[in-house]
Amino acid sequence: MKKSRVLVTCAKGIAPFLSAEIASLGFPVASETVSGVETEGSLDDAMRLNLFVRTGHRVLLLLDSFGAANADELYENAGRIAWEDFIPEDGYISVTSSVENPTIRDSRFANVKCKDAIVDRMQRKYGKRPDSGPERDRTVIALYWKDDACAVYLDTSGEPLSKRGYRKIPLRAPMQETLAAAVIAATGWKGEGNVVNPMCGSGTLAIEAALIGLNWAPGLLRSNFGFMHLKGFDAPLWKELRAEARAMARKTLEGRIIASDHNAAAVAAAEQNAMTAGVDRLIEFAVCDYRETSLPGGGGIVVLNPEYGERMGKIASLEETYKGIGDFFKQRCGGYRGFIFTGNLELAKKVGLKAKRRVPFFNGRIECRLLEYELYEGSRRRGPS
Ligand SMILES: C[S@@+](CC[C@H](N)C(=O)[O-])C[C@H]1O[C@@H](n2cnc3c(N)ncnc32)[C@H](O)[C@@H]1O
Repeated sequence: MKKSRVLVTCAKGIAPFLSAEIASLGFPVASETVSGVETEGSLDDAMRLNLFVRTGHRVLLLLDSFGAANADELYENAGRIAWEDFIPEDGYISVTSSVENPTIRDSRFANVKCKDAIVDRMQRKYGKRPDSGPERDRTVIALYWKDDACAVYLDTSGEPLSKRGYRKIPLRAPMQETLAAAVIAATGWKGEGNVVNPMCGSGTLAIEAALIGLNWAPGLLRSNFGFMHLKGFDAPLWKELRAEARAMARKTLEGRIIASDHNAAAVAAAEQNAMTAGVDRLIEFAVCDYRETSLPGGGGIVVLNPEYGERMGKIASLEETYKGIGDFFKQRCGGYRGFIFTGNLELAKKVGLKAKRRVPFFNGRIECRLLEYELYEGSRRRGPS
């Protein structure tokens, strides 16, 4: 398949990190929007992106773009695409969409029209049509339709890349894997020094840090992608790409990764998730209050994602927690760079330290910040370790 436009989507706020990743993988960055980065490539390139990208959600390969004022024009133009070249006759397809067209009230209607165009064409060509439905675990087609401009993509990821497959036990208020990877990228940590993650919850930040530190491609954790359900899927090339990714991985880390939470069930879930991700041997888990977390010498990053009152926790008691984090930073974390990921900037003020940097993120619809604090060695007091 020749080169075409490739759109890698992401959660709001993550695009700058995704752009950097795409560029470091050797792809040109054509443009960046709030929720995606555009590059170019072939289906083979899409496989590579699915394997290596940490912060993106879906790798979409443009099939065609055309004008459509209404659903009938969508049906007509989508029916001109040579679907039989991509979709197996006995396959299963799912159409997803983002629609802002005045004639369409429910985007599911656009999905159905696009799906009809595909299966009707295949019926005409082969006397047989693929099944269709909402499952995203096989061939997925993504439709972007704004006013009368339509772009039809093959979603080569299928299930979003945030579903790495290791988080079997999400607990409450977990952070998406792709967001956690972007947060670690924003700290600048690449494997040197320690990572300390009190309040680890289901362990997403610690696990993503371990994967980054090892240079372990996140796609190695998954066995199913949308591209595997396209005609002409190059299985030998996929095997080669995986071997290349494995060869690039490190076996050990320079520093230590420590994850703790006062909730024993959270720590058990985090350990289980780390085991599924294959990084449990690299993370030291502890059940303890965040103030008791051990901080090995040598510095590094200490990163906390406390509750921020939107989804769990009560504001008044959280004020105490945030104040306590400030004291913890001052008294125990000298020589480290401190980070707090929060969706509540009022609570963040209770930390009582001046943030050196504020990186905007979104956790779902909630606008968040990753706040960075420089913590000087002088004030460090030894605590339990
Ligand atoms: C928002 S969740 C963290 C979610 C995590 N980033 C994830 O991806 O699963 C906050 C966590 O802080 C923990 N926590 C709250 N107060 C704590 C304290 N005083 N000491 C240790 N952990 C605490 C909670 O048990 C909860 O697991």
